[in-house]
Amino acid sequence: MIGSVHVISFSPCGGTENVMQAITRDIPLPKHEYNITLPGDRTRELRFSRNDLVIMGFPVYGGNMPVHFSSLIAHLKGAGTPLVMVAVYGNREYEGAFLDMHEGVSANGFTPVAAIAAVAQHSGAPRIATGRPDADDREKLAQFGLQALNKAQAGGEGLAAPGAHRAWDLPAGIDIWPNTNMDVCTKCGQCAGVCPMGAVSDDGAATDNGKCIVCAACLKYCPAKARRFGNAETMKEYAAHLAHAVARKEAVLFV
Ligand SMILES: Cc1cc2nc3c(=O)[nH]c(=O)nc-3n(C[C@H](O)[C@H](O)[C@H](O)COP(=O)(O)O)c2cc1C
Ligand code: SF4
Ligand code: SF4
Repeated sequence: MIGSVHVISFSPCGGTENVMQAITRDIPLPKHEYNITLPGDRTRELRFSRNDLVIMGFPVYGGNMPVHFSSLIAHLKGAGTPLVMVAVYGNREYEGAFLDMHEGVSANGFTPVAAIAAVAQHSGAPRIATGRPDADDREKLAQFGLQALNKAQAGGEGLAAPGAHRAWDLPAGIDIWPNTNMDVCTKCGQCAGVCPMGAVSDDGAATDNGKCIVCAACLKYCPAKARRFGNAETMKEYAAHLAHAVARKEAVLFV
């Protein structure tokens, strides 16, 4: 019998967090929330039992979970704990995201029982899916939360990983790594403070591409608009690549 619900969100730009709030809105059990976006939020080991339900939300990048996904959840340990997978995507596609997530959480002792691919504003191109999840999305997400809880309460079979293949949606060779326009940077350090990977130097000048997961938080929260992805030429290529992602997509449920 599930006694409590644990809501775990990784949300550099806030869209995943909005989706998680909606999914868990009507759940009538004690809820514990963990935002694991920043490095300091991932230092304490968290252990869960068979009587807990974990609902875990991550954004989709390039049709996958973020690179380094397994290290982002290394501090989370289940013991046959039922888990709901939430992949939040920006109205393009989610492709192999559940394969990554299923593999990673299963290795840590969790049993996926339900999943949802939910839409939020595209963090790399905010003109896509602007303002989502909207009121209509939130109703559907809340209904899914209750369905997933019922599924977990019923026990039974775990869920196979939904999705067909792994993908990387960025054209090969594209220069996506963020950098700083030092002509306008004020060295305020905000970008370093919001980076989930500790990839930006304290003065905002340098980025460690080996750590960066291209989450766009440093662009979103830079007050001087000094952070940018790649260079103008390659970003035009990326914008063209996203041109087909404008028609509204809905959440896809697996329960
Ligand atoms: C570099 C990058 C790659 C992305 N790749 C995809 C993708 O493959 N498919 C998609 O639909 N959305 C994609 N997105 C959009 C995010 O998945 C979406 O905006 C998500 O809500 C971001 O979560 P957050 O707001 O919690 O950070 C991408 C965003 C960025 C910055
Ligand atoms: S947030 Fe912007 S202005 Fe501040 S240090 Fe970073 S790049 Fe510079
Ligand atoms: S440096 Fe990379 S990982 Fe860090 S906030 Fe910027 S885009 Fe995200």
